[in-house]
Amino acid sequence: MSKKTKFIMFLAFILIIFNGALPLSVADDHKEKKWYQKILDHDDDNDNEKHRDDDHNKSYLKQVNNPIYKEECGACHFAYQPELLPSASWIRILATLDDHFGEMIELDDDSRKIIEDYLKSNSAEYSSAKRAVKIMRSLRNQVPLRITDIPYIIKKHHEVSPNVLKRESIGSLSNCSACHITAKDGIYEDDNVIIPK
Ligand code: HEC
Ligand code: HEC
Repeated sequence: MSKKTKFIMFLAFILIIFNGALPLSVADDHKEKKWYQKILDHDDDNDNEKHRDDDHNKSYLKQVNNPIYKEECGACHFAYQPELLPSASWIRILATLDDHFGEMIELDDDSRKIIEDYLKSNSAEYSSAKRAVKIMRSLRNQVPLRITDIPYIIKKHHEVSPNVLKRESIGSLSNCSACHITAKDGIYEDDNVIIPK
């Protein structure tokens, strides 16, 4: 093959690619989305954060790696990743453990200090993970006691009906790992959701 033939084939190739790809941004709005557009749109919030997805570590939250936190705060429910709340929320939660959603929680001083340091230093405002950024943005200056009170989290679950949440296998929206099968790995992608019967 001569250099010229190769060049012409290269041009033809580019043309084919662009012919297929260009109309999708303009004309395809009302049609079934193409598979590659679904990948591009994977994150359905139109807020210019798509580029963050190239780094998968930034899509996922860090796994809980503090044994004291896991043991003490994972005894009754899923051990929530610290990145799911700002430090001000964690401080409020730790300051009200004598009435923790109707439960009384006792911690010795050492454990309490370890848990507080862990939660504070890994909280949402210090994270560049996509979800944590969205959580901070949606909170503005609110300091909720619950992850499930965060506007971003509420919005993401508006299609889950109260009857579904009442199922014995779920109980409440607080039970993240009932539906997010990879929650403990810090992965909350919609592809990894299975709502139990
Ligand atoms: C004795 C059981 C128990 C222990 C131990 C416990 N919790 Fe809880 N926690 C609860 C209950 C009950 C709820 C409310 C769950 C619900 O509404 O379904 C809750 C809810 C929460 C929520 C809010 C979840 C949501 O709805 O967004 C957070 C955050 C939380 N706990 C953090 C902690 C932390 C931090 C610790 C450790 C210091 C801890 N919990 C230890 C019982 C416990
Ligand atoms: C009853 C099942 C259920 C429970 C419990 C639940 N989720 Fe979800 N979650 C869903 C569903 C369904 C979606 C929406 C998936 C979609 O958009 O297709 C979702 C979406 C999300 C998203 C957005 C994912 C994305 O790709 O945009 C995040 C983040 C999330 N959940 C976090 C949590 C956290 C944190 C908890 C616990 C405090 C929780 N969820 C509890 C079912 C659940």
